[in-house]
Amino acid sequence: MARVFSGIQPTGDLHLGNYLGAVRRWAAEQHEHDAIHCVVDLHALTIPRDPAELRAKTNEVTLLLVAAGLDPQAMILFAQSHVPEHTELAWVMECTASHGELSRMVQFKEKSKQAAHVSAGLFTYPALQAADVLLYDTEEVPVGDDQRQHIELARDLAERFNGRYGPTFVVPKHTIPPVGARIMDLQEPTKKMSKSLDSPQGTILVLDDPKAIERKIKRAVTDSDGEVRYDITEKPGLANLLSILAAVTDEQPEAVAEKYTQYGPLKADAAAAVVEALRPLQERYAELAADPGAADAILRTGAEKARAIATPKMAQVRDAVGLTSRH
Ligand code: TYM
Repeated sequence: MARVFSGIQPTGDLHLGNYLGAVRRWAAEQHEHDAIHCVVDLHALTIPRDPAELRAKTNEVTLLLVAAGLDPQAMILFAQSHVPEHTELAWVMECTASHGELSRMVQFKEKSKQAAHVSAGLFTYPALQAADVLLYDTEEVPVGDDQRQHIELARDLAERFNGRYGPTFVVPKHTIPPVGARIMDLQEPTKKMSKSLDSPQGTILVLDDPKAIERKIKRAVTDSDGEVRYDITEKPGLANLLSILAAVTDEQPEAVAEKYTQYGPLKADAAAAVVEALRPLQERYAELAADPGAADAILRTGAEKARAIATPKMAQVRDAVGLTSRH
């Protein structure tokens, strides 16, 4: 079975983009793969966070992943900071990546424009992400489109390291879904739906109640020509609604477009489909969240399983680069 690894930040609230671009697939494919998924709490520190909120969000995201269908008995679900090999390998990756390479990361360029204080961690963020992936001999990384460049960097770093020190890392590849890889903000459909974007009406949270979902989709920005067709450039708002409905119903957006002549019924069907798709997750989350110790227990077991892989891998890396043994 192919080793699969992917991560999610415990910041903000889980939204429909995270679900359709990544999390839904993690759950659907966990039994066909050797799956490892990680709540990347260290990545969250690149921007100052309220400590209590970070702690709470780490637990919340863990339970949301389980509510979305991940089975911690069958796969590995853990928190990045519980496995110190991630930071250890991140340093080696920082010494493998070049300054120019990290400067070209689109996410860094965007985020550093918005931030008042640009931390060094924000800059080296993709080196830590490469470490996450390479530590587990990952073959496939299921992500949304916005992570493409980071995974391509991880590939380059693995190849460079292997060239320099001998075969050590599996060279990973990203798997990006054909539909749903880039869900856009409902109010600003040229921007991706995001946790950090201050756009509550444009973002559907996976825990939004049905009324909120219906309202947000009904008020989604479209255009005034009234023609239903899938055209990302000319009709980004409508294309986004078609993508959402297509992703949820496992169809192609072009095929969905052919079924409608008006925006109103398309919006109504998209809202109903999203409500139904999220209902099981919401019900399961309510059950899980009733047990205050649930997330801790899941993460503790997950970290043990993750370390059983990460520790020998890191020993191999230390040896390859010439760090003396600490045993
Ligand atoms: P994060 O936490 O921003 O997002 C988690 C996953 O959700 C996907 N995603 C989207 N997909 C479609 N449409 C959207 N609007 C949308 N917004 C987010 C992301 O592509 C991602 O797959 N750097 C990563 C976390 C990470 C990671 C890793 C991922 C850390 N280490 C190792 C893979 C492998 C991030 O911030 O994802």
